[in-house]
Amino acid sequence: MPTDSLISTDVARAAELLREGQLVAIATETVYGLGANALDERAVARVFEVKNRPHFDPLIVHIADRQWLDRLVTSVPDAARQLADAFWPGPLTLVLPKSDIVPDLVTSGLPCVAIRMPSHPQALELLRKVDLPIAAPSANPFGQISPTTAEHVAETLGDGVDLILDDGPCSIGVESTVVGFDDGKPCILRHGGLTQEEIERVVGPVTSRQNPASGPAESPGMLPQHYAPRTPLAMVEPSDLSADSTLRKSLAGRRVGLLLLEPSPAAESFDAVEVLTTDGNLRDAAAAFFAALRRLDVTDVDQILALPFPDEGLGRALNDRLRRACH
Ligand code: TXA
Ligand code: MG
Repeated sequence: MPTDSLISTDVARAAELLREGQLVAIATETVYGLGANALDERAVARVFEVKNRPHFDPLIVHIADRQWLDRLVTSVPDAARQLADAFWPGPLTLVLPKSDIVPDLVTSGLPCVAIRMPSHPQALELLRKVDLPIAAPSANPFGQISPTTAEHVAETLGDGVDLILDDGPCSIGVESTVVGFDDGKPCILRHGGLTQEEIERVVGPVTSRQNPASGPAESPGMLPQHYAPRTPLAMVEPSDLSADSTLRKSLAGRRVGLLLLEPSPAAESFDAVEVLTTDGNLRDAAAAFFAALRRLDVTDVDQILALPFPDEGLGRALNDRLRRACH
């Protein structure tokens, strides 16, 4: 099937396909997701297959209506309720004890299920039409760069998907923040589109889980390598960018690309440059991040360099993605 006919804006058709157990890529405010009926094990199994995703990495279940929360989980700590009241719909995923109707495949056998209510109008319309919880990981092959446009999905998953519901570029551009609960206390399992500062304003100080070195993780999106371009990427210091630095000399003869938060004179000595913003605004940077990484990846550079982002607000989520993109 030619790629063009895969991309559509027909929400009713998408709902019909999902009800039939087919896979539909959906736009959300964070990134595009690869959606399947979360209560249909065969459909969910296909999601793992199409993404080439290991079965130890559980999926986020998307809902439009709080009534589904009560059917999918067995208890909701006070802090979870406060966070849902404050930030749903939005880029927040809550990990809560699962009920029996959630297939083990969705949670990779874990006792908890991850639930999110997206704020994206088309996604909400679809979820309401289909009236089922929809499991949707980011719509990219496992370990690769997350998609922020319908075209990104078509390029990498293509015919593996039955339909790609297009609603233009994602406004937030990084995945949701995943929050779990230890004895009712919130803990950030993955930094994302909702900042730690926003969360702490509602529930007070929260912890965030250290990255496990390897293997099946408590929140396996925390695997040390993820979100990676094909081209090697290294996080460097500003002093490494000058053409006569030790690092740049060691790259002599190789084509080097640079990812920058804002314009810098250092950019002039590089073969390809992506500048995410004019003024360092981290929201704008997040929205531009994955697409810029993709563009650098398809220029013929041998190495990508990037500076860390300020470690605050959305900078935490961006640094997390950068660190995992390094190889
Ligand atoms: O913004 C998003 O969250 C996007 C859009 C499509 O909603 N989805 C997304 O899904 O990023 P995915 O599969 O790429 O990342 C899911 C994250 C992983 O870090 C996974 O480990 C974690 O959520 N997760 C899912 N279920 C979990 C569970 N039961 N316990 C702990 N972590 C879980
Ligand atoms: Mg992902």
